[in-house]
Amino acid sequence: MGYFRDNVERMAGYTPGFQPKATEVVKLNTNENPYPPSPAVMKTLASVAPEQLRRYPDPVGQSFRQAAAQVSGVAPENIMCCNGGDDLLSIAIRACCDKQRALAYPVPTYTLYPVLSSLEDCKTLEIPFADGYSLPTELGKTGAALTIVCNPNAPTATWIDIDDLAALANELTGVLLIDEAYVDFAADSAVRLVKEHDNVVLLRSMSKGYSLAGLRFGYAIGSENLIEGFLKVKDSYNVDALAIALATAAIEDQAYFQANVAQVIADRATLTEQLRALGLEVADSCTNFVLAGVPNGSAELAYEQLAQRDIYVRYFNVDGLSDKLRISVGTAEQNGKLLAALREIL
Ligand SMILES: Cc1ncc(COP(=O)(O)O)c(C=O)c1O
Repeated sequence: MGYFRDNVERMAGYTPGFQPKATEVVKLNTNENPYPPSPAVMKTLASVAPEQLRRYPDPVGQSFRQAAAQVSGVAPENIMCCNGGDDLLSIAIRACCDKQRALAYPVPTYTLYPVLSSLEDCKTLEIPFADGYSLPTELGKTGAALTIVCNPNAPTATWIDIDDLAALANELTGVLLIDEAYVDFAADSAVRLVKEHDNVVLLRSMSKGYSLAGLRFGYAIGSENLIEGFLKVKDSYNVDALAIALATAAIEDQAYFQANVAQVIADRATLTEQLRALGLEVADSCTNFVLAGVPNGSAELAYEQLAQRDIYVRYFNVDGLSDKLRISVGTAEQNGKLLAALREIL
């Protein structure tokens, strides 16, 4: 007998984007925000008291729940703090799915979903998106215990109308988790569905719009019923005292957040135009990255040649994506270096 459960022996594990050690590289491969977090976060960090570290943290992070509830127009009972948005995915799959109770999601999408489903050894239904990455009609008819829709979707950067998600929520008998990790860069969100649908929960991340990928903080917005169920499943202290304090400072500084996001959106428009001018095929993005089709499909070669120049983007060698590069929106300087290198390579 091996040391691990059969499904763990069989599974490959998640492959995170490459994290180069050197800081002077152009790192556009993991959709971090290129700008620093709010000064209020750094001020809070500088004033951490020993007592905050000596004691266990608040198990539910009530200060963050209150701040996030106010920003989202819901009650604190509708919020659950998570150790990054990924923690919520893990909690939801553990809470809802097993061999009989399926997980369903449209593909292509975030490659962590199948890894977590293998870990839980649950029945998994991957349903290809319909044309233009719209919702496949079969998605509402699977009988799945948990359906995940990533919106805006990664890595396609595409958007599904909230009315279509509302119709899906009505049709489903199980939970609908809408992964809104990138919603800060989109024009709308599904938050209103939480009030209208008992089975809807949103995933939010502090890694993108709030520039806090290193902190590991995310949160759920859902009906009280769902949040109560998920609270039973989470690790008892899933968010630490520093993370609660810093994430609270970040979400309270909405003026900084909005300016940060507006800058990324402006940089995204310029980058999209410049990539198109170089002959790459770039659809409009609702996220902080773009998916760029490389002329002649030579995306893998372009990816390797960029890496040789210390410019890192993401390449997925899977059906439908193997001729494309996913490029995080960087600063004007970083984007300029990428474009200069692509000009040489292509
Ligand atoms: C689609 C999607 N969902 C969720 C996450 C989780 O984000 P985090 O755990 O950093 O909050 C990511 C991270 O890149 C993502 O791309």
